[in-house]
Amino acid sequence: MWWSRFKRGFAGTWDDRLDGLFSAKVDYAGKSILDVGCNMGVVAYEISKLKPSSIHGIDIAKPHIETAKMLLSGSPVHARFDRLNLGSRRLGNILLPKYDIVLLLAVYQHMQRNIGPGKARRVLSNIVRRTSNVVARVPPGTDGEFIETLSDEGFQVKSTHTSPLGSHVLVLEKPGSLPTNIHVPAAGADPLPACSSAPGSADSPAESILRMGFAPIPMTLRVAATVLSASALTARMRPLA
Ligand SMILES: C[S@@+](CC[C@H](N)C(=O)[O-])C[C@H]1O[C@@H](n2cnc3c(N)ncnc32)[C@H](O)[C@@H]1O
Repeated sequence: MWWSRFKRGFAGTWDDRLDGLFSAKVDYAGKSILDVGCNMGVVAYEISKLKPSSIHGIDIAKPHIETAKMLLSGSPVHARFDRLNLGSRRLGNILLPKYDIVLLLAVYQHMQRNIGPGKARRVLSNIVRRTSNVVARVPPGTDGEFIETLSDEGFQVKSTHTSPLGSHVLVLEKPGSLPTNIHVPAAGADPLPACSSAPGSADSPAESILRMGFAPIPMTLRVAATVLSASALTARMRPLA
């Protein structure tokens, strides 16, 4: 049975996995959350009690994703779970352009092992560029490279917590960034679409959400950023005086 297979590889208890997450005093209320390596959704479920506007979980393991979907089906929070290898080219289509908070809990070391250190670092950068707030758990002795990558993306460590099993919970913030306010659909509006695009559907899941008006502000920001970078490029292309 799949459960006993996964139980064998399960490190620590749920309490271990949640340790230090809520004492870090991150305000999840009204925020859009990306949970990278969401496992069976237990962290997402605990965070859903703090009334975020949405939770998007990604994990490579199908049984984990199915369990997470079932767990969150009883929560009023808009939740979506996608089965995906973070090394996949589909990552850019699955992720939304912006999240208020990205969780990277005990997952980066697995990414390094699964997809190689170089690619893991590029994927990490791609993910954290979509937010100004990261909450991470890293194994003892591995903070250095993780923090270095996030520093390169403009993040600063706001707090650290050492859990009983030795892992570190890091809260990182990009100073000076405007908070991203994801529009919360009105009561009675359609819930988030299913995890993957329906067969034959032209839209990626991220596009489906955007089409539903779930994130109009990030889309506006994206358009503005495109216009700004185009004008910056034009300015750079002018011949030197
Ligand atoms: C140690 S668990 C951490 C789970 C959860 N974040 C927590 O703190 O309890 C690592 C999770 O990352 C997932 N994972 C590992 N490599 C992955 C990859 N390449 N793409 C997507 N998920 C991956 C695993 O399936 C697993 O659920």
